[in-house]
Amino acid sequence: MSSIIVLGCMWGDEGKAKIVDFIGAEVDVVTRFQGGANAGHTIVLEGKKYVFHTVPSGILYPETQCVIGAGTVIDPLGLREEMQSLMLQGIDFTDRLFIDERAGLVLALHKQLDHKSEENLGTGKIGTTGKGIGPAYSDQAARCALRMGDLRYPEWLEQRLNNFYKYHQINLSASDYKEELESLLEVGKFLGPFMAQTDQMLRDWYKEGKKILFEGAQGTLLDLIYGTYPFVTSSHTVSGGVCVGTGFPPRWLDRILGVFKAYTTRVGAGPFPTEIEGPLADQIRHKGNEYGSTTGRPRRIGWFDAVAAQYSAALNGLDSLAITLLDVLTGLPELKICHSYIKHNQVLPGFVSHPIELNEVQPEYLTLPGWDIDISNIQTWKALPKETKQYLEAIQDLLKLPVKIVSVGQDRHQTIVIKEKV
Ligand code: IMP
Repeated sequence: MSSIIVLGCMWGDEGKAKIVDFIGAEVDVVTRFQGGANAGHTIVLEGKKYVFHTVPSGILYPETQCVIGAGTVIDPLGLREEMQSLMLQGIDFTDRLFIDERAGLVLALHKQLDHKSEENLGTGKIGTTGKGIGPAYSDQAARCALRMGDLRYPEWLEQRLNNFYKYHQINLSASDYKEELESLLEVGKFLGPFMAQTDQMLRDWYKEGKKILFEGAQGTLLDLIYGTYPFVTSSHTVSGGVCVGTGFPPRWLDRILGVFKAYTTRVGAGPFPTEIEGPLADQIRHKGNEYGSTTGRPRRIGWFDAVAAQYSAALNGLDSLAITLLDVLTGLPELKICHSYIKHNQVLPGFVSHPIELNEVQPEYLTLPGWDIDISNIQTWKALPKETKQYLEAIQDLLKLPVKIVSVGQDRHQTIVIKEKV
């Protein structure tokens, strides 16, 4: 029996889904533990592109059990749409997709509140995905949220919906209220057969010897507490979030794999010490298709930040690294990796998460030679150009962790597993 967490370790969009999909061949269960439809997990399989928002990326393997854990927040109408679109693509998930009945619901009002608060904040906005994530998690903490399991009990649902609007001091017209209630009851009938108390299932599966993969969404630097607050999401994206978000005991977590892009990106506002702008950023953005899968927004681009990465590795207790989108760097004459932050001519001891401090740091870089050879079809460490190896080794040395997987293209087969090193 074994369990593995696969986490995005920077500001999200590290290509986790590709890695989850790749490892997915060896696991029996894939579980989401936090976040919601703010995620956009893209998998390309035999040239066909699939984008998942709430459904775990393991769904493409016909035998894999997929769990949407209690720590997620779910837009029930959006999830139904996502499931129906998968069905249309011939993906059958009968008896292998389970939604925890304690997951919070994202309702239409949450999305409106998300947009409104961004509008009110003006230039100080967070740059959210607009999917209602912050308001949905706030309501859970305020105990006025509806949960997945509520959809199964019409009278209780009516009472909870009433309380929800009372809490928000909104007097919904009788017809709007009726319309929303009916739509929730209807979607509840669709989702009902998939609902379960998934914590018990996960523990039982683990004891039966099944391999469980916990799939992170967003990234460590977007964690509600440990990220670059307030420019963060509203869930716990760190490895510690797995236990609360799924009811899986911490003692049973075996391995933690951290996914990093070969460079760094960020969507939305907030400090980004290694950010680059101009033609070089445009070139990387274009080649890496760095546009949000959920919102289509262009992503901000920067060099690999080993200071932030060290913080993330320590916080999550990483065992090993997966480096993605390495092929995007092909053709650049030289590459940079930030190895320390300087402030007032002093090297800082490590990462600083306060936005004021993070905006003030001066990144210090290692400069490494680039490579010209197309690496997108290379299958072994040995066959990589020496400059590519040098780049990966620099990351490895700075993080003091082994690079185990390297992704050199979107497709499942464009992945190098590093067993042997020179
Ligand atoms: P929210 O999660 O929609 O509330 O957005 C909060 C912050 O997290 C914003 O900066 C978003 O751009 C960022 N964010 C949310 N989901 C993702 C993601 O899947 N990838 C990258 N950034 C994300």
